[in-house]
Amino acid sequence: MKVHVYEKFWMGAALLIIAAFVGAVVITSYALGIHPPSHVETIDPATIDTDPRFAHPGVETVGGRVRATIVARMWSFDPAELSVPAGQPVTFRLTSPDVVHGFEVVGTNVNSMVVPGYVSQVSTRFDHPGEYLIVCHEYCGVGHHTMAAKLTVTEKAP
Ligand code: CUA
Repeated sequence: MKVHVYEKFWMGAALLIIAAFVGAVVITSYALGIHPPSHVETIDPATIDTDPRFAHPGVETVGGRVRATIVARMWSFDPAELSVPAGQPVTFRLTSPDVVHGFEVVGTNVNSMVVPGYVSQVSTRFDHPGEYLIVCHEYCGVGHHTMAAKLTVTEKAP
């Protein structure tokens, strides 16, 4: 059977496109280490309150980096109000003791699922001081729409 030259060209082009897409996934995940922020460590959802990583939720500065530790549970974030400085790297670390929640800082690039059994970790930097709304954007039960928190980004330290 003779395959027309144009047919051959487009079969080759399709294979190249598929190879480029698969290659992009392989390179970003294995060579660059880019992956979704929702599964960086495992944790036992039943012992979050005594696990040293989540026993004291809140904001702390470790080695010049700001770290916000937050527990997302039905139907609130603990703590419900946080304050971080502008212009500095901020890392959010979250987990859930019950069901899947979401963590979105509205108007920023902070957006992650929070899955029981795993630690989610997102790093960013806030350039604009002000008040930001944190919402759960994964449906998590009858109180889902009330699950929110407040983030205050304070002026950069002089
Ligand atoms: Cu938590 Cu929706």
